[in-house]
Amino acid sequence: MSITFCDKQKIFKIDNSKSSYVFKISDEGYLIHLYYGNYLKDINLEYLDTRPFVNFAPVSPYGEIMLDSANFEYSNNGIGDFRSPSISVLDIDGNNATNFRYKNHKIYNGKYELNGLPSTYDENTNVETLEITLYDEKTDLYLTILYSTFIDIGAITRAVKIKNNSITTVNIEKISSFCIDFKDCNYDYINLYGSWGNERNLSRNKLGNCKHCISSNRGTSSHQQNPFLSLVRPNTDENIGEAYGFNLVYSGNFLGEIEVDQKNTTRVQMGINPETFNWELEPQNEFFAPEVVMVYSSNGIGDMSRTFHNLYRNNLCRGYWKDRKRPILINNWEATYFDFNEDEIFSIAQSAKNLGIEMFVMDDGWFGKRDNDMCSLGDWVVNLNKIPSGLNELVKKINDIGLEFGIWFEPEMISPNSDLYKYHPEWCLQIPNRKSSLSRHQLVLDMSRQDVIDYLFESLSKILNSANIIYVKWDMNRHLSEVGSLNLAKNKQKEIYHRYVLGVYQLMERLVNKFPKLLIENCSGGGGRFDAGMLYYSPQIWTSDTSDSFKRVEIQYGTSICYPVSTMGAHVSACPNHQTGRSASLDARGLVAMSGTFGYELNIDKLTEEEHEIIKKQIQDYNNYYNIINYGDYYRINSVQNEQACWAFISKDKKEILLNFISLKGQPYPVYNLIKLIGADKNKKYLDAENEKIYFGDTLINAGLLVVIPQCCGDGYIYQCYLKEIQ
Ligand code: DGJ
Repeated sequence: MSITFCDKQKIFKIDNSKSSYVFKISDEGYLIHLYYGNYLKDINLEYLDTRPFVNFAPVSPYGEIMLDSANFEYSNNGIGDFRSPSISVLDIDGNNATNFRYKNHKIYNGKYELNGLPSTYDENTNVETLEITLYDEKTDLYLTILYSTFIDIGAITRAVKIKNNSITTVNIEKISSFCIDFKDCNYDYINLYGSWGNERNLSRNKLGNCKHCISSNRGTSSHQQNPFLSLVRPNTDENIGEAYGFNLVYSGNFLGEIEVDQKNTTRVQMGINPETFNWELEPQNEFFAPEVVMVYSSNGIGDMSRTFHNLYRNNLCRGYWKDRKRPILINNWEATYFDFNEDEIFSIAQSAKNLGIEMFVMDDGWFGKRDNDMCSLGDWVVNLNKIPSGLNELVKKINDIGLEFGIWFEPEMISPNSDLYKYHPEWCLQIPNRKSSLSRHQLVLDMSRQDVIDYLFESLSKILNSANIIYVKWDMNRHLSEVGSLNLAKNKQKEIYHRYVLGVYQLMERLVNKFPKLLIENCSGGGGRFDAGMLYYSPQIWTSDTSDSFKRVEIQYGTSICYPVSTMGAHVSACPNHQTGRSASLDARGLVAMSGTFGYELNIDKLTEEEHEIIKKQIQDYNNYYNIINYGDYYRINSVQNEQACWAFISKDKKEILLNFISLKGQPYPVYNLIKLIGADKNKKYLDAENEKIYFGDTLINAGLLVVIPQCCGDGYIYQCYLKEIQ
């Protein structure tokens, strides 16, 4: 058993290949956090329940415990713990204090599930679960904390369920998905911040004696902050030191809190953002808070990332495309924008086929009267002016030349200038007597309404049934404002943000069930909804609207802190780049895009013969390296801050290594770089077939592989090298 309970000491211990997680039930019935870190044999960790005396601190009426200085697994509100609470429920009397204490628990094999929410699953994996139910006498509420341990992968997931057993309705004002009180505050915290075209930059700061928060109130997880937090020791780097990662499996408004308290303990929590949330919980009803994934590594940030990658590839992404080779695609967006017709589409597809590309994706502009972004969202009917033969004929023609076909939708949106709006103005989010703000000339559909979800399910299904479409790019191009629903009573208006997310999940779930072979690539103005919740439905996500390879390296680096390369949409685009105006060689663009779900997004008809040959070679390389890139281990080597990036893929059996190097600047002299391939097998020998050089694994690890940036290399230099084990 990897989850054990010591009845005598009332201690729970949750183990996996990377960590132990230990807590106990106090005499008063509170769950007291004892330890999270490297694997421990011993369960006798009672002595770690250190609770310093604090003046002014209330003592629990149920015993000796001072709630303000205990280390909790989940924190009550309003009863003497003055740190940020995990839960706040407004009861019939208008009070929001709770005093949840232990009631019972069960341990079982397998993974819990969360109604209506995405979560990791246990297919072919060794997973055990602990469910602990706490009870609050005054409100008659049951709170169940769920823990699952992925034993071989080395991750723990947590979630929370609350049940109203009383005869009156209560209001949930806050419900964190997890809480841990660490015993000290000697950590740096890492978060992934950004903006449109500039997603998931890594920020690392020392914890101060205060509260640090990340959040979204935009209706999506957002470009601005990703629902990911990490605590690392000051000496931790990619390869050494302690690192904890916390990632919320949720695609809406969230709050992540790190609070250093008066005694220098550190409380970490994450969950739905309480600022934009309230939930009326009626008698006998349950509410599920989203899952959080927790990873501990004693071997640095790189190892923490690889654990997330393994878990997400194996136990979050699912369905037909989970382990299948994804098609190399060409998308017409940056080639044509809205200005295309059937002949142009077919001509791009034809040229793409000649180069070895496997799928054509028709982006925005194929439906309604859409020739720009001012109209037609919601009218999911093909525009016969642009595609006179109809969708089915176009897809057939494209299939006939040997390409698959994919299509763009923006299901959650509505243009005021659309038929849908004419017939159903009540279907968009709106506040009565208040004008709505437009963004990209569009409004947002009220995804909390079942009739809206049903309409979208029917209209998307109709298109997907009308032709052989195997891929959908699911876009979402604005954040939510004037968030009101004409369908909900006034006391339920603060539920809309969460109901919106549940509506999106429901629609995606119904679509992947109805079209089990459909590959969905999520997108939100690039990577504005790149989160673990979305990965449950769409195993790849468009990482950013910035396709400039130099900027993309940074974005993909930051994204890889938590999310696997196999989930990052990455395309070779035109030069100069449309977002930054910068020029990069086709080789550099190819190298960066290959570290993702590979594709092209430019007018290949305008390229030279020589460039076509380069593309053919890139496609060949990507196909050759597909397994190592998508299923291997990912190592970040040089930090992008040095105007260099270097990363390697190493196959699970360590027999193959693919090293990628990019220097963002030309230099007036040659620059020597020794790249240490930490993940190589020290006992193996590797061959670089390009130059017939042989390296011992321990040499690659300790001395490194030499990469020389030549003198005067213009706008940058790239190097890729493939090493294979020889006997
Ligand atoms: C934003 C996406 O990120 C782009 O790739 C493209 O699909 C446009 N929307 C289309 O409107």
